[in-house]
Amino acid sequence: MKLKLVAAGVLLAFGLGAQAAPLIIKYSHVVADVTPKGQAALKFKELAEKKLPGKVEIQVFPNSQLFGDGKEMEALLLGDVQILAPSLAKFGKYTKQIQIFDLPFLFNDIQAVDRFQGSKEGLGLLNSMESKGIKGFGFLHNGMKQLSANVPLGSPTDAKGLKFRIQASDVLEAQFKAVGGNPQKLAFAEVYQALQTGVVDGTENPWSNIYSKKFHEVQKYIMDSNHGVLDYMVIGNAKWWAGLPPDIQKGLSEAMTESIKFGNKVAFDEDMAFRQKVIAENKAKVLPMSKEHLTAWRTAMKPVWSKFEGDIGKDLIDSALKANK
Ligand code: LMR
Repeated sequence: MKLKLVAAGVLLAFGLGAQAAPLIIKYSHVVADVTPKGQAALKFKELAEKKLPGKVEIQVFPNSQLFGDGKEMEALLLGDVQILAPSLAKFGKYTKQIQIFDLPFLFNDIQAVDRFQGSKEGLGLLNSMESKGIKGFGFLHNGMKQLSANVPLGSPTDAKGLKFRIQASDVLEAQFKAVGGNPQKLAFAEVYQALQTGVVDGTENPWSNIYSKKFHEVQKYIMDSNHGVLDYMVIGNAKWWAGLPPDIQKGLSEAMTESIKFGNKVAFDEDMAFRQKVIAENKAKVLPMSKEHLTAWRTAMKPVWSKFEGDIGKDLIDSALKANK
């Protein structure tokens, strides 16, 4: 009897009855849950756990809770987090080509960005960091950026002498320098306070980020400038990915593809709704930009293209321009 009990115990612990603990996968990002990226991350959790019941547990950390800008890439390479979706502006240290997305006035709208990302040349960029240990799963939209400040930025000369918060991108640095601004690289988590306390005078971000982080409460004017794009690449630690069993890889891949599709739909469908919410709160004035003003901004910022053409490649810029039609 005693022997039987011991045998049953051994079986339970090591054999039939024992369920292996699920594989914990951490997905960290810096924005709010309501944004396209926040929604895509939560969708990934829902789908992956449904497709691989009991096998994986996805832990999503929004709002720079686990890692903020600056730390998150290092954490991914060290294996402290498995999935991230940094803005395309934040890969400059790992690949020069992806800087293409920061060129001002390159894309007419988010549909053009979408066409370029889906082209052979665009898709090629997903593999551009594999030698650095970074696997690209796919592009994810947020939206076109809008300029904001405490003065209306109608003409590019209005930006002269103003301090602008930028993401960690040399192209964005050159963009604001081209209009006489004083750009400062700051982590996303620091932007609200920097605007509130006057450390910087202005910034640029898509509507979902402006609204969810309340930038409109600490900026007097937001321009409908659509002068550039803020999108993401969802990435993983390449070594970690390669070591996963095939069934887990398959389930995660499917969940990833579907979650990106879902996030992109949120981006397309809700961008204008976030703009409307900003307008409805009536804290910052949202100002249209005339064709003449936009042309003046485009002309002032255009030299940035040639400055980075050598790094990015003229062919790649040409294929991006083709996506505008
Ligand atoms: C920013 O730093 O402004 C953005 O990259 C934040 C984000 O992830 O959308």
